[in-house]
Amino acid sequence: MRRQIVAGNWKMNNGLIQTESLIVELKKQSKTSNAEVMIAPTFTNLWHAFEATRQHDIEVIAQNMHFAENGAYTGEISAGMLKSIGIQTVILGHSERRAYYNETDEALAKKIDAGLSDEMNMIFCFGEELADRKAGNEEAVVESQIKNALFHLDASAFKSIILAYEPVWAIGTGETATPEQAQDMHAFIRKTLAGKYGQEVADSVSILYGGSVKPNNAKEIFSKPDVDGGLIGGASLKAEDFFAIVNAI
Ligand code: G3P
Repeated sequence: MRRQIVAGNWKMNNGLIQTESLIVELKKQSKTSNAEVMIAPTFTNLWHAFEATRQHDIEVIAQNMHFAENGAYTGEISAGMLKSIGIQTVILGHSERRAYYNETDEALAKKIDAGLSDEMNMIFCFGEELADRKAGNEEAVVESQIKNALFHLDASAFKSIILAYEPVWAIGTGETATPEQAQDMHAFIRKTLAGKYGQEVADSVSILYGGSVKPNNAKEIFSKPDVDGGLIGGASLKAEDFFAIVNAI
């Protein structure tokens, strides 16, 4: 059985007070599914969030990290620094970072390697633009993102990697992929992994869907055989909505 995960990507939202009150509300929610619950506050709130959820079944994760251990990289955070405050999992390759900070597949491969050498778990994001899908190139785009960033790895590395398919046209738009579109792409991703690493490894990797997941569509999306949970943006900022999605698995 693959890990079933619902992770909330808070993006650039919530200062300390808002973080504290959202965590208080999250802790009041009851989990009725077997999903693992993760939240990704901003860097400035990670330690506080980690402390506030120590005794709770919520994992605090980071939204990004640099590939270097330390050095002249103003404004950056390393895997070791995240580990030093108890953070074990980091989101990498989010489409907003690819778009705004020119994070290429090659740069992300370096971050993946750094995360592996620091024994981090990573949620690796990828997905096509609307123009790619309209041109029927979505599978080619996703295949190249995965191959360029991950296919230099040994099979054993996938014990530390969670994949997150996030069609860019569905992020923050309210335009969710249909459950069939999600399943088709997740099945393609698993087939691509199987082609390189064999079916056993491919079947062991959790593939999350992200892109306008809401309480009213989560159940149908999560019911698909190759969808192992979700990476949630906007809906993760409201405790009740987020747990309605957690409990939809
Ligand atoms: O990383 C998850 C995020 O990109 C999805 O955002 O607001 O469409 O759920 P949203």
